[in-house]
Amino acid sequence: MRLDKYITTCLDVSRKEIKRQIKDGRVTVNGEICTDSGANVAETDAVTLDGERLLYNKYIYLMLNKPAGYVSAVRDRNYPPVTDLVPPEYAHYGVYPAGRLDRMTEGLLLLTNDGDFAHRLTSPNKNVYKRYFARLDAPMEESDIDAFAAGMELKDFTAKPARLEITDDPTEVYIEIAEGKFHQVRRMCARLGKNVLYLKRVKIGALTLDPSLELGHVKMLTEQDIKKAFSN
Ligand code: URA
Repeated sequence: MRLDKYITTCLDVSRKEIKRQIKDGRVTVNGEICTDSGANVAETDAVTLDGERLLYNKYIYLMLNKPAGYVSAVRDRNYPPVTDLVPPEYAHYGVYPAGRLDRMTEGLLLLTNDGDFAHRLTSPNKNVYKRYFARLDAPMEESDIDAFAAGMELKDFTAKPARLEITDDPTEVYIEIAEGKFHQVRRMCARLGKNVLYLKRVKIGALTLDPSLELGHVKMLTEQDIKKAFSN
């Protein structure tokens, strides 16, 4: 690919600006100054700008700790989209949510510009469990664990077997589901006569929401994190 294209993939700068910087001799390719914006470079070439090595990432993967009030979309007529929370340094990647959380649900949401990743993550036959913490308006009982495990019949589909864990306070529970149908956790709880007052996703597969990640903040995923999202 062209050198200027390589650099604009790494940095939030215009092609015009980067062309000027290349011309000014501020860019090296494999240790040699290169003043030709159209020079052919490969993803594996070492490119520096002002002595700083650039990391060529075509795709990025972000973990967001989603606050309530944001919709899992890139635009919306009525509410702010989660992409409003993406810091400017990642803006040029054009990320979007891989999967969705309801507007009032908090917690772990992944954002990416890798369509294949997003598709694989949300595919219902992947059987990747998603773990939620829920606060309810009434206590869960031991018998409710069986109701979740049996695969619950809802109005428009039968949910796959799900896991319910009741904490010391039986109005606070963890629920793991394998699909992600519209309002699924809320509807499963409602089926058992409990309303969800607060809902937060804490895990996708083996990937846990970073407890140090503040609400509304994002962090880059490592390759290891990405693999974890696909393994239970
Ligand atoms: N189930 C719900 O009810 N809401 C979510 O946001 C995710 C799962």
